[in-house]
Amino acid sequence: MKVHFKQDEPDNSNRLDGMQQGVLGKPLPRIEGLAKATGTAPYAAEYPVENCAEGVLVTATITRGEVTSIDRESVLSMPGVIAVIDDEKLCTRAAQGTANEAPMQGPAQVCYWGQPIALVVAETFEKARDAAKHLNVEYRVEEGATLDPGAVEPEEQEDETVHQGDLAHAMAEAAHSIDVTYTTKGHASAAMEPHAAIAEWDGDKLTVHASLQMLNYNITELADALDMEEDDVRLISRYVGGGFGSKLGISEEVVAAALAAKQVGRPVRVVQSRQQVFQTVMRRSETTQRLRLAADSEGKLIGFGHEALVSNLPGEAFAEPVLQSSHFMYGGENRELMLKVARIHRMTAGSVRAPGEAVGMPALEGAMDVLAEKAGIDPVELRLRNIPEDDPEEGLPFSSHKLAECLKQGAEAFGWENGPRKPRQRREGEWWIGTGMASAARVHNISEAKARVTLKADGAALVETDMTDIGTGTYTILAQIAGEMLGLDPKRVLVELGDTRHPRGPGSGGSWGAASIGSAVYVACKAIREELAAKIGTIEDKLELNDGKTATGESLTDLLEGKDLAREGHYEPGDIEDDYTASGFGAFFAEVRVNHYTGETRVDRMLGAFGFGRVLNAKTARSQCIGGITWSIGVALTEALEFDPQDGHLVNCDLAEYHVPVHRDVPDLDVVLVEERDGAASPIQAKGIGELGMCGGAAAIANAIYNACGARLYDYPMTPDRVIVAMPD
Ligand code: MOS
Repeated sequence: MKVHFKQDEPDNSNRLDGMQQGVLGKPLPRIEGLAKATGTAPYAAEYPVENCAEGVLVTATITRGEVTSIDRESVLSMPGVIAVIDDEKLCTRAAQGTANEAPMQGPAQVCYWGQPIALVVAETFEKARDAAKHLNVEYRVEEGATLDPGAVEPEEQEDETVHQGDLAHAMAEAAHSIDVTYTTKGHASAAMEPHAAIAEWDGDKLTVHASLQMLNYNITELADALDMEEDDVRLISRYVGGGFGSKLGISEEVVAAALAAKQVGRPVRVVQSRQQVFQTVMRRSETTQRLRLAADSEGKLIGFGHEALVSNLPGEAFAEPVLQSSHFMYGGENRELMLKVARIHRMTAGSVRAPGEAVGMPALEGAMDVLAEKAGIDPVELRLRNIPEDDPEEGLPFSSHKLAECLKQGAEAFGWENGPRKPRQRREGEWWIGTGMASAARVHNISEAKARVTLKADGAALVETDMTDIGTGTYTILAQIAGEMLGLDPKRVLVELGDTRHPRGPGSGGSWGAASIGSAVYVACKAIREELAAKIGTIEDKLELNDGKTATGESLTDLLEGKDLAREGHYEPGDIEDDYTASGFGAFFAEVRVNHYTGETRVDRMLGAFGFGRVLNAKTARSQCIGGITWSIGVALTEALEFDPQDGHLVNCDLAEYHVPVHRDVPDLDVVLVEERDGAASPIQAKGIGELGMCGGAAAIANAIYNACGARLYDYPMTPDRVIVAMPD
């Protein structure tokens, strides 16, 4: 039986707090943690499949042009080589993830260096890789590939444009004004598990084990790519070794494996090499951002300008939404916001962890620090003075808003010294030491979701949905929500995820996973509770359940009388989305050391205080924040995609050359979870967590670099070469 719930009104009741089981929010360890740590949780490439052939992608070595010939015979005669696939259905770009259709297909047209153009299939991986390297491909090179986003006339994204009041006038009238331009480099998702797929056909039915974030969309994309009905496709992603946006949509290996398996009549596995992952999946666009801030003598903003330039391939709808939170972050009645996209020939630009705010907030929060200095106001105080009452553009109320609490609680926990600041106040040997802070914001997203909950005759529960757990804790929080609602120890709740045979979840993306699928499980459990309540002559609201029993002592097994009780919960965000501006907020504080002679920055400690609605599991929530802060360190100091200006190829396409923070770069991190309930954000009063943890954090480090050594930088990442140039004598 299906139960539909569309949220149109805020739910500010405390019913989930008032329940008896008391497991919601508890810091339970991840259910699948042991399996992952012991290597028994199979990732996409690890499923045991008999008689599986191995495929290796061949990628283009030109930036723009056409494949004119592929010399198949040259490799088909090599030992163990089975086939060369250059079917016109091969995908040449990663899908964006919520498009509900196949990404670009047809390998003959080349749009970027590293684009997949064929697949070689062999008996072993080594044979396939060897043959792929020896495959002779001829191209017709098309002149005029655009490699530099600054060299073309960009397109304005009109729905992002805001002209409100007169910013130029406000800048001229302001007691304090700044006009600064920041740049950020491209980023890679750099998930640990490479993109991989195993495809198997049974007649006309296709099953693919893949590493994907959003099976609910991915099944449509794959069916579209192959010209099939969704009913004939099954996708399985039970464990995903990180996604960060790169697995939102199907990528090239998924379609390649399916086409190859059909052609060679046996299962085919395709695993992208680390270099291929960097070259073929989505990158985060580099950005150039101009910030204009105009403030009165008290530091209150009267003008706010944020204009950004990003890039993408021709034909792609996505533009890094740099301004997403700038629209409502701070007040200022005179506003100018604009986003432009330059068309260039690099791999698809798309969602990489916290698209938009991940780079927009570090620029805005860097600029706020410049303004604080100019106005002679403590940086925390400057932000407190500029928190708007309502959304400054839409005029909507905020669903809930904990920025002030995050700033105050974060400052307190960190030991922030209030007051106007001066750089270069502390030196120990070669090292300048300083502190910095920044606000965090990440819009709250929520999505339609379905989940089936079955209360088994033996009193255990089963949750089924095609939702994924990409390392975030989905398995665990769903067991907690169902456990809380049904009065069961979460150990008695079996959670089955990542299989399109189950009801459609929302997918893991945009930090909407937990609130969306959690709400679907909530809706299903509420319907089960109604049924149980009726059996004992009460109403759902009054039903008390704890450890498999009602308050009056009836056990669930007795009530079920030998029958399973199943409900499919269907949650939909309703009109409420139009009534509020909903966002998570937070504050970052960092202490860094900067070497006077080398410009090297070390982060010594960092703290984030975040408000994102109900905490469903204090441990997994905290882990998400720690992951986000770690990303902040990468954005601030090390991460940058570097493209060759001559031929456009990605130069640093592995983890040796693209520097994500490693254990030694990640110091003492602390997280404050600020108490919040957001009844308008979701029926379970939760908002998104994961991405908020990195939205602005890089600016806390940048601002600390300035406070430490007096080097004011406007370009991320702040590598030693840049710091040393900006360092005063
Ligand atoms: Mo996220 S970048 O939407 O996985």
